[in-house]
Amino acid sequence: MEPGIQISGLAKRFGHLVVLDGVDLKIQRGENRVILGRSGQGKSVMLKLIVGLLTPDKGSIVVDGKRVVGMSRRELYDLRRRFSMVFQGGALFDSMTVGDNVGLGLAEHTDQSPEEIRKRSQKSLEMVGLPDVFKKMPAELSGGMKKRASLARAIVSEPDYILYDEPTTGLDPITADSINRLIQHLDEELGVTSLVVTHDMTSAFMVGDRFALLNKGTIVFDGSSDEARAATEGPMAQFIQGDSQGPLDSL
Ligand SMILES: Nc1ncnc2c1ncn2[C@@H]1O[C@H](COP(=O)(O)OP(=O)(O)OP(=O)(O)O)[C@@H](O)[C@H]1O
Ligand SMILES: [Mg+2]
Repeated sequence: MEPGIQISGLAKRFGHLVVLDGVDLKIQRGENRVILGRSGQGKSVMLKLIVGLLTPDKGSIVVDGKRVVGMSRRELYDLRRRFSMVFQGGALFDSMTVGDNVGLGLAEHTDQSPEEIRKRSQKSLEMVGLPDVFKKMPAELSGGMKKRASLARAIVSEPDYILYDEPTTGLDPITADSINRLIQHLDEELGVTSLVVTHDMTSAFMVGDRFALLNKGTIVFDGSSDEARAATEGPMAQFIQGDSQGPLDSL
């Protein structure tokens, strides 16, 4: 069994819109993989395919030696328990307290007591710097606090993999920095393997040890953070420099 995530020939379209067209990517256990790409290039779709929230048209995704496509409901359930996803918009339930949102997965998928769940949820909230929001409703939180609460929800189940979709977008630079440090901390202290989708290059270089750039349905750059930083021409250089002229598709 090869640990980590292996994606081969992954293809996904919605009607006539071809989003992924043969994506090959390997994510080793313990790695922090940053996935870059322009808006609409299929980054969120790729994360959803990995956890089985969407089904690919072609190709395979193998997680720790097991193929995701074709898994039974039971196998998919077991797989998802080892993953956490921090969704782009936070995705907290408005009708529940923040604390209950954080503990929801434990309440649904484990036999831990309500007291134990409450303790763990509070501890996760403390880890993301929100010690006093357990009883608040999501509507009472700022955007940055919501992102942090969704991070608390992601770590409470002690997953092997965390998939982050734009964890710092829309945050002030200081809050963004605290989120980046938290992602680093989780990787270092808990040995979590992470996939971070981001447009924020400061964040990318802070948390990532390997980079992939998705464009027009395929991976056009795959390399270490040093290689990404050193790129002086080609798609990665264009993306880092934010140049509208170059090999990447322009609007
Ligand atoms: N469930 C769906 N049904 C139809 N089209 C979809 C669906 N999900 C995504 N798409 C389309 O697939 C394309 C890729 O979407 P995706 O959300 O993966 O982009 P992204 O790279 O995450 O962009 P952003 O950086 O803006 O978040 C878009 O054109 C989007 O409209
Ligand atoms: Mg997205």
